[in-house]
Amino acid sequence: MLTQKEIMYLKENLDAEYLCIRKYEQYASLSQDQDVKNMFNTLAGYETQHATTLKNILSQNGVSYTSIYESYNKPQQNQNPQSLSITDAQILNDSLSTEKHVSSNYNTSILETVDTNIRKQLQHIQQEEQGHAETIFNMMRTKGYYNVQY
Ligand SMILES: [Fe+2]
Ligand SMILES: [Fe+2]
Repeated sequence: MLTQKEIMYLKENLDAEYLCIRKYEQYASLSQDQDVKNMFNTLAGYETQHATTLKNILSQNGVSYTSIYESYNKPQQNQNPQSLSITDAQILNDSLSTEKHVSSNYNTSILETVDTNIRKQLQHIQQEEQGHAETIFNMMRTKGYYNVQY
């Protein structure tokens, strides 16, 4: 049995996962660089798994929830990014800030979770979100979009 607060946070987490899936599928189609495209498709796959985990937690506790972000028309591959004036650097920066935000939202959910098993599942997701931030950050460094100062 979930508390009202837990349900509220889990729904918010689930909305965020669906937004991540959309965003990364769209960014995969918009980015110029093949490595960046592949990275976004991989990330979209992870976010899909996260959404499934959250949906299962909710439904196992008697909560059925359909996010308004759940269904949408998937983008065509290789759209023309010039028409939007959007660069790979911009796309990567936005994704890094998304992952930071999502990870901190999981932190809030984890701290509110009563059940140990559910907490473990959320901690696992959060760890993967931190991994996503690292993956995106490393891609930015590799492609020369991020100059780290020591
Ligand atoms: Fe996720
Ligand atoms: Fe993520």
